[in-house]
Order: sequence, then structure tokens, then C-alpha cells
Amino acid sequence: IKRIRTHHLREMKERGEKFSMLTAYEQYAAQTFDEAGIEVLLVGDSASNNVFANETSLPVTVDELIPLVRAVTRSAHRALVVADLPFGSYQASPEQAYLTAVRFMKEANAHAVKLEGGAEMAPQVRKLTEGGIPVMAHIGFTPQSEHNLGGYRVQGRGDAASHVIAQAKAMEQAGAFAVVMEMVPGDVAAEVTAAIGIPTIGIGAGVGCDGQVLVWQDAFGLRTGRMAKFVKQYADLHGVLLKAAQDYAADVKAGTFPAEEHTF
Ligand code: KIV
Ligand code: NA
Repeated sequence: IKRIRTHHLREMKERGEKFSMLTAYEQYAAQTFDEAGIEVLLVGDSASNNVFANETSLPVTVDELIPLVRAVTRSAHRALVVADLPFGSYQASPEQAYLTAVRFMKEANAHAVKLEGGAEMAPQVRKLTEGGIPVMAHIGFTPQSEHNLGGYRVQGRGDAASHVIAQAKAMEQAGAFAVVMEMVPGDVAAEVTAAIGIPTIGIGAGVGCDGQVLVWQDAFGLRTGRMAKFVKQYADLHGVLLKAAQDYAADVKAGTFPAEEHTF
């Protein structure tokens, strides 16, 4: 496959073959994850926290995200690159969603967009897909609605399970090509995955999803501090980078860098 496209993900679901998604916000991470065979790169609005040092995803703007999406689409030769629509850039109307999504497609060469919400976002999803823009949905815990959801908590427990299933079906019917489920009980996510034809991508949603996604700075240990239960740490990049910076500073202090071989 030269370029992963939305139909490839659907075919993988049909074959029972799992796929991976990671966030990416710039060139070298995007290139490396593409080289590793990660099928989908998401330029998440989590750049708000992980690039721009905000406390939540709410403040990040379309103008801030567009250069990041452009860097990732230039750097990834195989992965499908999805641009997250930030808070306030699509909720007002299908027209607003369309105009925002078109900016990501035209100015940053995005291959698809992602937005948060269920049945209430069906008009947006329909407008975009009919306008030629593939849409990835995002249900369960949706960080842009954190204040409405009463904080960072699992969605779809007990009686609320049927609501998550209905949201997923509404997104499939509206034309979404995949659906992210965040912090949903594993049995509910597996039920959703069996109930819809489009791929599900879990984050804190158990192993029963068709694909998985993590924020790379969390999974590879560039960020330190408290992690959500669903994060598995695959590397300690903070430790690697810290030691490299300390070694460099020590060499400079000692006068051992630059050495002869670094000097003209
Ligand atoms: O912005 C983001 O990183 C996301 C993923 C966690 C799904 O939406
Ligand atoms: Na997001």
C-alpha cells in the first residue's frame, strides 16, 4: 500500500486485522511513526496541552493547528493524516464545520478530519462527507466537553452503555469512516465494535476495538507526571533527553566540547 486510505481501515476491520494510530504534531515524530508502520497519524487538538502548554484542549485555535498539520502531511508518506477540529470551530453549524474542515484540507493537505460528538453532530458529519471530506468521529469521553461531562471520567457505564452504542450508530449513519471511543468500558466498546461496520479506535476502551490510539508524549515518556490508567509507557524519552542535555551542559562547562574534531 502506497498510502493508507479510509477504505483500507475498513478492510482491515473486515479481516480482523488491528491497526494503530498515534498523535503527531511535527516532522521527526511523524516521519518516525510513518516509518514504523503506524497506519494513522492524528494531529490532535491535544497539541493544546502537548505543544502549546495549555492545561486543556479548549484554547487551541485553527490557526495554531494548521502549520502542525502541514508539517505532518509533508512528513508522512504512508500514514493517513487526520486533523482534529478544535473546540468552537465546528459545533455552531454544519456550514461552520465545512469551512473549518476545508481550511485543513486546502492549507494543510489533511486527508481527513476528526470531530467530537454523537447524534448532535450528525448534520456536521453529513455535510462534510457529502462535501468530499472524510470524517472520523470521537465519542465516549470527549475532552472538549469536559465541563459538561463533569470532568475526566469513564462514559457509558451501566445504563449509559446504550447511549454510547446509539452515538456510534448515529456517526456511522451520518457517514463517518471511523469512530474513536475514549474511556468507555471494554465490554461496551467491544459491543459497539461488533454493532457497526466502520472501524472503532479505542483510547481507554479495551482490546475489543479495531484499532488503538495514544498520545505519543504519554506513551513514549516525553511527558512525565500523572498518566491516565489507559497509558502504557513504551519508552522514557524524558530521561534520554534530560541526560543528553545534562551531558552537553557538563561538556561545555568543562571545556571538553567542542573537541578538535568539531573544530574548523
Ligand atoms: O487530541 C487527541 O490527541 C485525541 C486522541 C487522544 C484521540 O483526540
Ligand atoms: Na482530540
